[in-house]
Amino acid sequence: MKKVITYGTYDLLHYGHIALLKRAKALGDYLIVGVTSDSFDKGRGKLNVQQSLADRIEAVRQTGIADQIIVEEYEGQKIDDIQKYGVDVFTVGSDWVGKFDYLREYCEVTYLSRTEGISSTQLRTEKNANIRLGVIGATSRTERFVKEARYVSGLSADAVWDGDAGKRAEFARKCDLMECSSLEELFAQSDAVYVFSTVNLHYDYVMAALSAGCHVICETPLFLTKEEAEAAYALADEKGLVLFEAVKTLWYPAFKHLLLLVSSGVIGQVKDVSVACSQIPDDPDFTKNPYEGSLYDWGTIALLPILKLLGTEYRDVRMYDYRENGFSYLTRGTLLFDGAVGSFKAGRGVKTEGEMIITGTSGYIYVPAPWWITEYFEIRYEDLRKTKKYFFKAEGDGMRYEILEFVRMINGHQGTHYFHTREEIRKVTELIEMFDRGEIIRI
Ligand code: CTP
Repeated sequence: MKKVITYGTYDLLHYGHIALLKRAKALGDYLIVGVTSDSFDKGRGKLNVQQSLADRIEAVRQTGIADQIIVEEYEGQKIDDIQKYGVDVFTVGSDWVGKFDYLREYCEVTYLSRTEGISSTQLRTEKNANIRLGVIGATSRTERFVKEARYVSGLSADAVWDGDAGKRAEFARKCDLMECSSLEELFAQSDAVYVFSTVNLHYDYVMAALSAGCHVICETPLFLTKEEAEAAYALADEKGLVLFEAVKTLWYPAFKHLLLLVSSGVIGQVKDVSVACSQIPDDPDFTKNPYEGSLYDWGTIALLPILKLLGTEYRDVRMYDYRENGFSYLTRGTLLFDGAVGSFKAGRGVKTEGEMIITGTSGYIYVPAPWWITEYFEIRYEDLRKTKKYFFKAEGDGMRYEILEFVRMINGHQGTHYFHTREEIRKVTELIEMFDRGEIIRI
């Protein structure tokens, strides 16, 4: 019996896929189809797959062409599969010519001609109207955001506005965007806007954008007060618009996986979450704006693992603050929960080890610095030989993952709401508000 194997994502299964499967089957007697797992696709930068692995497998099964369906989960698996299943022929479409020649050492490799005029990418584009993104703020951060947005299909960064006309013109030239001379013009050109500014300006930009009918993705923290949060969510709901907080850490493949592992009990009950984040900016004038200080800058990121792992119902909170001339350099906070404690250090203009340690009753998780953009973590136990190491590749700057979630939410995927809840955002706002009101202990 001649065994043939082929691989693909098979998102929104189309006639090009079916033609390929038929031709692949005709190369032998038995066809194995490898369907890529969600995390494998994300890891190789294919970010916009619309269907879940289960749905894609089901679609391939329903063609009735495959004799066996397997899941492709990791790089290098093809060699393993070929040997394990005793495969005679490996085949894929002609878009991959040359790419799999290294498998000739293990079996015959055949590239089949691809069907013209159809692809999953094309179907995805047709299915979801393109979202035109406008950018508020001409900075190096927004430039990175625009670059990352180019990796997410279904959205195109088109226009920019900044209060400084010179910077705005320069930015528009550099990033090849339309330059808007007013916010109104930017909103008129856009379906969604990205807001990057100091936190005290967020609310005004967010409300203006929502009022103008634009979805919003805004840097953290979204708001300074709970009233602001309520008013902005009420307006977003009334208008049927997405208001998304850009916490890129949350969407990093490693971070998401870490939360799932902890929930499944790998370290027992979580008793302590301890995180630290700090940065000394290059700009010597960084202390000029108090809203760039420790907790304004890091609050959301530092608090999220604590709230995600220990819940939003803390019983008590203490914040110790090192301030000079109205600028906060370092905040150390402790949150007390029923049966657990969370603590954070947030520094701007001071430096510390940016690690995260999650302490459990049977083991702990160690995430090395910088934990908020990590690809790597370890689960450690009393017996060090039981240490498990996890690595999840993040492509580029990592912002593409949050942009992808933003696009998915605009396109009506609900999952995101449950992963980053309004309750969590409200709690972070509550703590930022306390900090802003000066309910801190000076050190
Ligand atoms: N394929 C094909 N003809 C097409 C599209 C895909 O023969 N018009 C083949 C690919 O060469 C591959 C298999 O079908 O061997 C699965 O491809 P996949 O990447 O899942 O589909 P695409 O439509 O190419 O997806 P995308 O647009 O996301 O790259």
